[in-house]
Amino acid sequence: MSLESTGYKSRRTFAIISHPDAGKTTLTEKLLLNSGAIHLAGEVKERGERRRTRSDWMEIEQKRGISITSSVMTFEHDGLTLNLLDTPGHADFSEDTYRTLTAVDSAIMVIDAAKGIEAQTRKLFEVCRLRDIPIITFVNKIDREARDTLEILDEIMEALALDTAPMMWPVGAGVDFNGLIDLEHGRFISTEGKPEAEAPGIEALAGRFADTQNQQIAASMEGLELASGSLPKFDQAAFEEGTLTPVYFGSALKSIGVRELLEAVCRFAPEPRTQPARPEPVDPSMAACTGFVFKVQANMDPNHRDRVAFVRVASGTLKRGMRLKNVRTGKDLKVANPMFFFARERELADEAVAGDVVGIPNHGTLSVGDTLTDGPDVTVTGIPNFAPELLRRVHLSDASKTKQLAKALNDLAEEGVVQVFKPTLGSGYYVGAVGPLQLEVLTSRAAAEYSVPIRIEPAQYVTARWVKVNDKAQFDKFAALHRLNIAEDRYGDPVFLAPSQWEIDRCAQDFPLLDFMATKDRG
Ligand code: G4P
Repeated sequence: MSLESTGYKSRRTFAIISHPDAGKTTLTEKLLLNSGAIHLAGEVKERGERRRTRSDWMEIEQKRGISITSSVMTFEHDGLTLNLLDTPGHADFSEDTYRTLTAVDSAIMVIDAAKGIEAQTRKLFEVCRLRDIPIITFVNKIDREARDTLEILDEIMEALALDTAPMMWPVGAGVDFNGLIDLEHGRFISTEGKPEAEAPGIEALAGRFADTQNQQIAASMEGLELASGSLPKFDQAAFEEGTLTPVYFGSALKSIGVRELLEAVCRFAPEPRTQPARPEPVDPSMAACTGFVFKVQANMDPNHRDRVAFVRVASGTLKRGMRLKNVRTGKDLKVANPMFFFARERELADEAVAGDVVGIPNHGTLSVGDTLTDGPDVTVTGIPNFAPELLRRVHLSDASKTKQLAKALNDLAEEGVVQVFKPTLGSGYYVGAVGPLQLEVLTSRAAAEYSVPIRIEPAQYVTARWVKVNDKAQFDKFAALHRLNIAEDRYGDPVFLAPSQWEIDRCAQDFPLLDFMATKDRG
């Protein structure tokens, strides 16, 4: 199907970043409800439940009440097409999360009003900052006991070095919550989340609470007075540069302030951006169709061994049935069944424009970081691999399954579950992960989906570095000296399995023509 709104200028592609439990799922659901994409509360969760029953490995998800897989949801509002990319929020987040953020143009940062900036929010924010992704902030759970509004704004400014422009001002919180002052429009939003018809202005609204005996409300009003003199006003340019965030307050659970947040996305979130690429950046207005794979998900349906590559269109129009070249392999691919993912179903996508995300079913021909185009060769850059914080050896209990192991590791590495390194000497594999949960997922999926029983064992190495070979002779010398530490990643690029940081530093000194890299740009 085609989407109602046409042209890339009508696309807003964004993610929600938050710490687990801040309310991302609830907010997602309420955004969809407000836009009319779903009609019943609970549909997103239901969808989650159904997804969880799809395969055994998701037991881990269920047990821990977290969501590991990320997906995309497309919905329409106010003449715009909104593509919401889900970033996994668990503490052990993997490269998947980073990569998802390479495919968005803006993000909503959800903060729990009682907890402020938490570890995961900060990490995700840093990734957004690296890419200058503009952030709209939603301070959630205002219906519960909350921190003082000024204190929350101060924390955002200090912890994230980000200017804040409050767009709403909560009057009290928790049991004392009396509504929101919409600072932009000078109107009042009731405790039920309904805006009043009249817009008497901020001063008049604050006047309503001038004689309050309630200490919390009095404190809110004092804060508002202080803030109006000292805090910056919203500025679109500063927002788009990523130096200022508009801050909304509300309650996802009670649907307070959600409509205003959705409106903010429609009004402020930027159009599809120019993507960094070699040899030249890809501008969304370019005629050639270009897209890049930021995520691969296998076995979404265990009955069909399907594998879906999530492609963000960067320029031109992707049409069903067209042929695109995978620049990495040089091979053509017929895009027969591209899919849109809506809140409730997936549908064949007849046409997708820059900013859209389509799923392309394939049998392993598409990998994360691949660029597809029908124009001149170009490679979208900035989709990173990170040096693993955990490096482990894979022990295969059943030697007759060597082949299946290779396939399982290749597939799961392609999805970004773990990184796989194969030593050039000897047999076996090492796997790298950012957190231990990834290793659990690997073990459980290898058993459930590939019937390969594996054990994860300690390795004698602490981390890995990609070796950039600027001088072949020097690399050969290095490789000869460290024969047991040389491996290849799944693209055949050389990797140094390092026993210590000290060893990495020493090698960098001894072999100045080699670079030991902690990240590899897959572009
Ligand atoms: P997450 O995806 O960020 O992990 O958070 P999620 O939406 O699952 O919300 C985490 C918990 O916080 C849920 O409660 C949810 O109902 C609650 N919550 C979300 N938004 C608000 C809000 O605005 N106000 C209040 N008071 N609570 C909110 P739970 O008890 O863990 O789950 P459930 O049994 O309610 O589903």
